[in-house]
Amino acid sequence: MKYYFAPLEGVAGYIFRNAYVHHYGGADAYFTPFLSNPVLSSKERNDVLPENNAAAPLIPQILSNNAAYFLAIAATLREFGYDKVNLNLGCPSGTVVSKKRGAGFLSIPEKLDGFLYEIYSHCELSVSLKTRIGMESLEEWDGLIKIFAKYPFDELIIHPRLRCELYGGKVHRESFKKALDFFCEECGISTDRLVFNGDICSREDFFDLKEEFPEISKVMIGRGALKNPEIFKLLKHEKASVTPLRNDGSRLSEFIAFHDELFNAYTGIMFGEKPVLFKMKELWSWFTDYAGLDLRELKKIRKAGSLTDYSLAVKSVLQAKL
Ligand SMILES: Cc1cc2nc3c(=O)[nH]c(=O)nc-3n(C[C@H](O)[C@H](O)[C@H](O)COP(=O)(O)O)c2cc1C
Repeated sequence: MKYYFAPLEGVAGYIFRNAYVHHYGGADAYFTPFLSNPVLSSKERNDVLPENNAAAPLIPQILSNNAAYFLAIAATLREFGYDKVNLNLGCPSGTVVSKKRGAGFLSIPEKLDGFLYEIYSHCELSVSLKTRIGMESLEEWDGLIKIFAKYPFDELIIHPRLRCELYGGKVHRESFKKALDFFCEECGISTDRLVFNGDICSREDFFDLKEEFPEISKVMIGRGALKNPEIFKLLKHEKASVTPLRNDGSRLSEFIAFHDELFNAYTGIMFGEKPVLFKMKELWSWFTDYAGLDLRELKKIRKAGSLTDYSLAVKSVLQAKL
């Protein structure tokens, strides 16, 4: 079984990924948030430069509906030494979708087909696809899988939700099943080229999925890794479900070290206290349950107006749990 760390724009840039692999790790591959500028911005460049990245293997993701732009980004990535890229066909954000990129590209299947033809004809890197199952209707999936089947994708990562569902409601496992039947039985494609993504946040979620699809050999996990950074180790080593961090000295110390590495690294690259405070407070919306914070403790952290106040608040909240 292979486990992938999902691309998480705004959260899991290189600073986060590095701290993550130093303290937790366990994923078999890490995907970067999307790159979209044909000439990479400095933020994008920093995120993929090999010397900035401890996570390996790292697979950069591209968001584009323009084959020339895609190929330009891929060429830069090749110069950096990458041999794989991933195409984003799932981003549901309004500004992306309105430009017919991400999930929006799924609404113009003929153009998507032409784009895939161009990139698979000319790209020197191996290209995987990460897709939703449509924009508005489950019926769109039937046409999309037929388009994907025409191309030698490295892997097809399926987040079985429609764009209109954003990240809510249940994933459509029946659509994933449709893809398995079509690609693996009708087209003879190996099951290890299909990757399931969506709502795996615990061992129970994973085993429930495996029970329904015993043939699955790869899953991608996003929010589950933010809500429980131990998730890959938990799944790989088949440990029992995570117990609360409270009173578990060594796991709590690891989490504090992870937190402190994030805090110090962001402080080192961001200008001024405000952006660091904003970033760290945002991360707490993912970490709260794992670290076992109650509302009062979370408020204490959120109230901090300076980096010193913030550090003191985090220290007092976390040390109280030792
Ligand atoms: C904060 C956030 C940022 C995301 N950024 C990206 C991205 O850059 N590229 C992408 O393909 N998907 C992105 N996604 C989607 C995730 O990679 C993943 O497909 C989705 O969250 C479902 O998987 P999960 O339930 O394991 O989180 C993002 C999701 C979240 C919550």
